[in-house]
Amino acid sequence: MKIFLDTANLRDIEEAASWGVLSGVTTNPSLMAREEGADFEVTIRRITELVDGPISAETVSEDADGMVREGLEYAQWHPNVIVKVPSTTEGLKAVHRLKKEGIRCNVTLCFNANQALLAARAGAFIISPFVGRLDDISEPGMDVIADIVEVFANDPEIETLVLAASIRHPRHIIEAAHAGADIATVPFKVLEQSMKHPLTDKGIASFLADWRQREAQIEPIASTGSD
Ligand code: G3P
Repeated sequence: MKIFLDTANLRDIEEAASWGVLSGVTTNPSLMAREEGADFEVTIRRITELVDGPISAETVSEDADGMVREGLEYAQWHPNVIVKVPSTTEGLKAVHRLKKEGIRCNVTLCFNANQALLAARAGAFIISPFVGRLDDISEPGMDVIADIVEVFANDPEIETLVLAASIRHPRHIIEAAHAGADIATVPFKVLEQSMKHPLTDKGIASFLADWRQREAQIEPIASTGSD
């Protein structure tokens, strides 16, 4: 399973990219709004320089014509730009039309396998089911990932990638991998948390303490030897 970063924050993207773990980035209008004063096009172009992989840029129109217009513009910024459209019938129309132009789409705000199946049939490159937001309303979000993975596996024509979105904690990442997701898009904080373990910190501290103690023992012997 590939890891994408779910943010429009350039510092976080640069940091996570330096770890060598990133295969792409997803943004959305809310994530962009957090980056005060940042220009959308400049931000997306910069992300394409930092990460060599699919970079999702979301449309904000509610009708297919508007989504297609925005999508055609975004696609000119870089070949890795993926046009994000919502799981609506207008979104399906936009996917269908943009695909004919050779433009790849990520269908977002997906909450069930029906939406995913129709998005795939319309030609979506990626489908993004929102795990955390389903958990928030007491529906097991990860079951929807497993459901979609199974439905897609039963249809050899479907090549759409399943991207687990709305990831809220490190366990979600592993559960998405177990469920068969192709990608998990992860907030930077969750990615950082997922590399932390108290036993790792404790182990480093004790290795370093032992090393210093060893050096302290060797030093007097070495200085005696030189006499
Ligand atoms: O990229 C969309 C998705 O990951 C949003 O997550 O936490 O706002 O539900 P969240």
